[in-house]
Amino acid sequence: MNTFRKKKMIATLVIVGIVAFGSLSFSQAPQPHREGPHNLKVLPKNIDHTTLIAIMHDFTSALNYHCGDCHAASPTNPKELDFASDANPKKDVARHMMKMMMKINRKFFKVKGDFAANYVNAKYEVTCYTCHHGNEHPLTFPDMKKMEHMMMEKQ
Ligand code: HEC
Ligand code: HEC
Repeated sequence: MNTFRKKKMIATLVIVGIVAFGSLSFSQAPQPHREGPHNLKVLPKNIDHTTLIAIMHDFTSALNYHCGDCHAASPTNPKELDFASDANPKKDVARHMMKMMMKINRKFFKVKGDFAANYVNAKYEVTCYTCHHGNEHPLTFPDMKKMEHMMMEKQ
């Protein structure tokens, strides 16, 4: 074997060694804790934190809810909420509502695009607030007491 080929072979072996060692040490390293949300099924997975929290705050005011009305407590620390958990069934109801809201806006108001972008840019015509108006249960009939009051004022 000539020296040139020998050198080339050594260089190749060194490179292979580095790559192998690199992947080995990587696979043995403890899995780093993933930052950001990791259980999004309706919102875009790469949503930025500010947008996500802005939408969440909007949900709370639309229904007069607290974060904990949709999010389950952490199993290890009951004082904290486990936002990624789906243990609270209201969270899935909310997902269902988000899909319904997207469909109403797309089908009847021609608003297309992803939920987060439309939501924060106020593109949606029908929102959680349109129906809920600060109530857990949207009103199906006018509040008769309020109506009577209005009639009295008109007379
Ligand atoms: C009306 C129900 C509701 C309320 C109230 C609510 N959330 Fe959420 N939250 C959801 C739903 C639904 C998702 C998942 C969305 C999806 O799947 O795309 C979610 C997801 C999240 C996530 C991402 C978790 C992950 O890792 O996937 C965070 C963080 C979060 N919410 C924080 C909050 C905070 C903070 C509040 C209070 C200010 C709040 N939420 C109030 C319904 C709610
Ligand atoms: C087109 C009207 C409409 C829109 C828009 C809407 N909702 Fe609802 N929502 C309803 C109705 C109707 C119910 C069932 C009412 C009841 O249980 O009394 C409901 C029920 C719910 C419930 C369950 C309440 C319970 O008693 O368990 C949650 C949570 C909820 N909606 C969240 C949302 C969120 C979050 C949004 C926005 C992403 C939203 N809704 C948008 C009409 C709407």
